[in-house]
Amino acid sequence: MKKNLSVLSVIVAFVFSLGLVAWVYAADQKVADTFKIDNDKALFKDGKRTKTPVEMTHKKHAEVHKIACAECHHVYKDGKNTWKQGDKVQKCGECHKAADQGKTMSLQLAYHKNCKDCHTKLKTEGKKTGPTVCAQCHPVEKK
Ligand code: HEC
Ligand code: HEC
Ligand code: HEC
Ligand code: HEC
Repeated sequence: MKKNLSVLSVIVAFVFSLGLVAWVYAADQKVADTFKIDNDKALFKDGKRTKTPVEMTHKKHAEVHKIACAECHHVYKDGKNTWKQGDKVQKCGECHKAADQGKTMSLQLAYHKNCKDCHTKLKTEGKKTGPTVCAQCHPVEKK
């Protein structure tokens, strides 16, 4: 009985330390309030870039526009989003690549479906929204 207890306490301590490591890692992750979405060209069709990087008001989306983190961040298991706040956030391009791979659509499509589709939906509902036209997200470079 005593031996069982000490084995149990070792297991509890081990599980707890794993939890602590995960928590420190997640809390360590930093994200700028605003940034340019500017992925490596290798993640786009034919390894090319044709459009300019895109401004993202990250903090404002979460805090002012009140969009839930899980609207944009996900880890799918059996078709369900299991990601929750505090979990590690991976870059979109770690999963979404230059071309569709099964259910994981290309990176370009993933961004357009996430950003553009939400903005367009809100627009058709007559609500305040973000950019919906190419050049509003991809400003044309001065020559
Ligand atoms: C409207 C969409 C959207 C919402 C809402 C959102 N994020 Fe993000 N977040 C992004 C995008 C896009 C990136 C950049 C991803 C990339 O570079 O591939 C990002 C990046 C991050 C990163 C940095 C990841 C890295 O490795 O650089 C963290 C951490 C993060 N978000 C946490 C959160 C948390 C926590 C919330 C909720 C409070 C949240 N996000 C809400 C879209 C969103
Ligand atoms: C851990 C891998 C992973 C990361 C990181 C990831 N995705 Fe996905 N994403 C997937 C998979 C897998 C699917 C397909 C899910 C399904 O249909 O079962 C998906 C589906 C989507 C969809 C369609 C379904 C939906 O949720 O609307 C969009 C849009 C999308 N991802 C955008 C993004 C964006 C934007 C980012 C970064 C902020 C991102 N993804 C980060 C794996 C990932
Ligand atoms: C679920 C809905 C939703 C998603 C997803 C979303 N947005 Fe937005 N976005 C909004 C809303 C709502 C507004 C502002 C409406 C207003 O002015 O009150 C906005 C505004 C903006 C603006 C204008 C500046 C600002 O914050 O007011 C930019 C730029 C923008 N979004 C870029 C993006 C990009 C890039 C992505 C994808 C990485 C994205 N958005 C994803 C809902 C969304
Ligand atoms: C709501 C914002 C938004 C709108 C509107 C939008 N895009 Fe994008 N698009 C993005 C984001 C975010 C990326 C990823 C950018 C990056 O990583 O540099 C992207 C990537 C791309 C790419 C792949 C990268 C490249 O440089 O070749 C192409 C092509 C593209 N968009 C074309 C278009 C076209 C054409 C339109 C109009 C029909 C459009 N986009 C409208 C947000 C937007």
